[in-house]
This record gives sequence, structure tokens and C-alpha cells, in this order.
Amino acid sequence: MPAIVVVGAQWGDEGKARVVDWLASDADVVARFNGGDNAGHTVVAEGLTLKLHLVPSGILRPGATCLIGAGVVVNLRALVKEMDELVSYGLDVGPSRLKLSAAAHVILPTHRALDGAREDARGKDAIGTTKRGIGPAYADKAARVNLRLGDMAKPEEFAERVAEGVRAHNRRLQERYDASTLSPEEIAAEYCAYARRLAPHLVDGSALVGEALEAGKTVLCEGAQGMLLDIDHGTYPYVTSSSVIAGGALTGLGFGPKYVSRVVGVAKAYTTRVGAGPFPTELLDETGDKLRGTGTNPWDEYGTTTGRPRRCGWLDLVILRYAARISGLDELALVKLDVLSGLERLKVAVAYERDGEPIKHFPAEFGLEALAEWRPIYEELPGWTEDIMGVRKFADLPAAAQAYVSLVEEQVGLPVTSVSAGPERDQVVTP
Ligand code: IMP
Repeated sequence: MPAIVVVGAQWGDEGKARVVDWLASDADVVARFNGGDNAGHTVVAEGLTLKLHLVPSGILRPGATCLIGAGVVVNLRALVKEMDELVSYGLDVGPSRLKLSAAAHVILPTHRALDGAREDARGKDAIGTTKRGIGPAYADKAARVNLRLGDMAKPEEFAERVAEGVRAHNRRLQERYDASTLSPEEIAAEYCAYARRLAPHLVDGSALVGEALEAGKTVLCEGAQGMLLDIDHGTYPYVTSSSVIAGGALTGLGFGPKYVSRVVGVAKAYTTRVGAGPFPTELLDETGDKLRGTGTNPWDEYGTTTGRPRRCGWLDLVILRYAARISGLDELALVKLDVLSGLERLKVAVAYERDGEPIKHFPAEFGLEALAEWRPIYEELPGWTEDIMGVRKFADLPAAAQAYVSLVEEQVGLPVTSVSAGPERDQVVTP
């Protein structure tokens, strides 16, 4: 019966993959609904640290069929590389396990080149994209000129259209950005080989999801990026180009709202952001450095896709309230609470204020200039020094950690149904 939707409630990198990994143990289908290989989903399980960019995080659970849905943009080179890596870890990514919606769109190497050229041309106003071609591919999709994965069913014709697409992009690269071009023939040959390999994975994705839901099976919908990077409701223009919110699962996979039984918002116990754009609770001091870590551990705050250091700051409950409203969240999974251990005092933004006037709602629609005028109002809490990585029950957390989680529940108006206290699959605290 149910579709369960998992979305990020901040600016991405919340740790959605590990939440998807837990929930996937009971899922029949795990389906990615938005974004592309700009995403970096890390799952630590059974001694392995897997960094996934396109393949749904459910791939680690043998019982789940994994689908890359219509709302995703797929860099075929990146997908094939990722599949080969997964095979080297002994995982099955054959056509019966990993399915590709014929309606998902293709990212060409020239989409990536255009993304890079456009970012370079923007100079100090750059968005700070991952340069994975996401914006240009979604732009071609909206302009109705892009290739879809279903076109791979006829590899030779697909190759011809790839070459045409590359030529069109080359003209833009040269004329608009004075940038280097790429070889249409080489890319067409490369993409023709991918088409031959990937064609057996093609399915009617919405039919697969629809039939599973009709049959009473569980479909877990995996979102990429976070609420504030949403194309419509994020901090535009410092956003990604897809629908990141829970509604994006419906459009990105093609099913109706009556099937959604649970929407899980994933939030870090603090806030991070990669790339440019507003960040009201950002910490540009030692506390920010402590949250970021040194980069020696895979779970330190450095981008999974680009390796860029993430901007770090205090937890912002105004943002979480906004995510709760826009995505209709039922619950929160609070991730990385252990990172806060050892901080003497903790601050949490509970509202914003401008000229002494407080607001409790994130003022996203009025744009960046308006947003810059609002300052966070913090509530301060005592920290805890205990190592919480071995804790599994909420009641066994230090009192200060319990108070921190309770403040989140009270202020956002949602239950926190799990807290992660370490990178391993089983380091989860439940009520
Ligand atoms: P794009 O999606 O590569 O176009 O990048 C647009 C913005 O979204 C930039 O600020 C990126 O840093 C950010 N972004 C894209 N994907 C992710 C992600 O998976 N995690 C965090 N930030 C992301």
C-alpha cells in the first residue's frame, strides 16, 4: 500500500542515504526521483563505505528493486562507472535489480562543459554548482530538445542524436563562452556503447511504481539534495534545477498523492551548505571548523561529489519548520548528533528577527535581499561531553542531548523518530 518519501530538510548532505538504507530493509522498490550525479549518497555498512551518486541507496538491500525515475537526469558515463564499482564490491546491478525509467533524461559531456563555462563566466556571482551539467540538462528538458533514456533502445539512432546534441552545445560553448568544444563522433561512439549495455535496464518507470503500489507493495522514494535547494521553494537562484521536495516524488516517479503514507524529513543536528547563497546560522569560527572536521573521515563535512569543504553552522529550526510545511513531513530523522558531543554550549535558531519584529517562517519567496535582512534568534542550551556513539535508546542519551532533541520536536511540531549517533548502519538511537 504505502509510498514512503524520504527528503532532505536543509541544503542537502543530510544523510538521507543511511535513512533510505534502514527503511529499504522493508521496501519492495527503492526509487530515486530527482537530480543527477550532483548527489553524493554515502552509506557505511558491513565495513564498506559506498559513495553513490545515481544508483538508489536501496541497492545494498538484496530484496529491493531499484529504479532511477523519470525526474532524474542521468550522466551515462557516471552511471556505468558507478555500476562497475558496485559490481567490484560484489553487488548485483543487473537488469533485474537496477531499472531505468525510459522517461529519465540524459546528461551529455557537453552539458557538463556548459555548466562549467557558465559558472566561470558568472565570476563572483557563480552559484557554486557541482559542474555536473545538471542545470543545462534540465534546461534542455524544459526546452523539449533533450534525449531521454528510452532513446537508447535504438543505439545507432541514439548515437546520431547524441552527436547532434553535442554539435548544438559546441556552438553555444564557442559562441557564448569562447570555450573548448568536444568531439561529437567520440561522444556518440561512447554513448552508443552505453546504450547497448544499458538498454536491457529500461522500463516504464511509472508503471513499475504504479503496479507495485496497486499490489500493496512498499515503494521507498529517495530524494536527492535538500529542501532549500528546491528549484521552486529554495533560496533561488542558489538552488539546484529539480524538484527536491516531497511533491517531487510524485512528479518524478509518476504516481498520485493518495498512496503516500509517510514523509520522512532528514536533518543534520546542525546545518551545512555547499556552494554559494544565504546561510543565516553559518559559523565562520572555530566551532564551524570543529563541525566540519579535518576531512580524514568519510563522514567529515567535505562534499561527496566535489570534495569541497562544506559551510557549517548552528541548527536552524526556522528552516526545518519550512521543510515540514512544504513537504508535509510526518517525522524527522535527526542525523549526526554525535558530532555535537564535546561542545560546551549549543545554539539553535528558533526564529528570525528584523527591526525587533520576529518571524517563525522562512521568508524564502521574497528573495535573497529580503532574506539577508533577517537575523536568527537563538536559544542557547548546555552541551554534553559524553561519547554517545554506543547509545541505542533515547532514554540512555545524556540529559542535555535529550533536551536538544526535545527542543527540535517542540519547535518544529514533529516527532524525531530516529537519531544517528555514528556513521555505522546500527548506530541509531530510537525512542
Ligand atoms: P547543481 O545541482 O550542480 O546545479 O548545483 C546547484 C547548487 O546545489 C550548488 O550550491 C551545489 O553545491 C548544490 N548541490 C547540488 N547537489 C548537492 C548535493 O547533493 N548536496 C549538497 N549540495 C548540492
